[in-house]
Amino acid sequence: MAIVITVAQQKGGTGKTTLAANIAAALATSRRVALLDIDPQHSLTRWNELRPKTAAKITFSDVSGWRVTGELDRLKATHDIVVIDSPPHIDTDARLAIRGANLVLIPVQPSAPDIWAADGTLKLAAAEKRKATLVLNRVPSSGKLRETMTAQLKADGKPLMTATIGNRTGFASAFADGLAVTETAPRSIAANELRALLAELLEMIG
Ligand SMILES: Nc1ncnc2c1ncn2[C@@H]1O[C@H](COP(=O)(O)OP(=O)(O)O)[C@@H](O)[C@H]1O
Ligand SMILES: [Mg+2]
Repeated sequence: MAIVITVAQQKGGTGKTTLAANIAAALATSRRVALLDIDPQHSLTRWNELRPKTAAKITFSDVSGWRVTGELDRLKATHDIVVIDSPPHIDTDARLAIRGANLVLIPVQPSAPDIWAADGTLKLAAAEKRKATLVLNRVPSSGKLRETMTAQLKADGKPLMTATIGNRTGFASAFADGLAVTETAPRSIAANELRALLAELLEMIG
């Protein structure tokens, strides 16, 4: 049976779609991966349409509403990993995606509004008895923001991944070509950060 990673966070622009695409593509070289886009904005669907035929194969699906649970079951039966990208609000679809997850990944930029918004997703995951973790995304390379935010989140008792993702232009340029940073620039810092994130994610899921 497949592992399901749901990327969720009720605030827009925190990096859900970017991380969903990059995680899926990086895993697709060694595993059977499916992506499920339940965000009506469908930016991940656009990414998939741009994905070169030669790139590692990912099964793609973009259902919504009552079809989410059935589609998830169908994808789980024939894949090792299913990654779900969810909308920037908590609705029934997002709830179903969290319910179906082995792990809920909540990207936050190191800013107070992102962290406040993450609380709603954390509560929902707790209500559904699902493991959830925050991950710092778009961390600026200079300054103490990362340390300050990490200390604050830890003090608040929030689950936080050790791996962080920096603010790297490579994510936007890879996305525009339907690719992941591990595909466009495998030796880049962005790719290294992504691989570290994946290793930690897989360890958390067990
Ligand atoms: N680590 C990163 N470094 C640089 N830009 C990023 C990073 N993560 C996301 N972005 C950019 O931030 C914007 C919002 O990301 P997106 O994944 O669409 O967020 P969401 O799906 O949560 O709304 C996009 O323009 C994306 O390219
Ligand atoms: Mg999105």
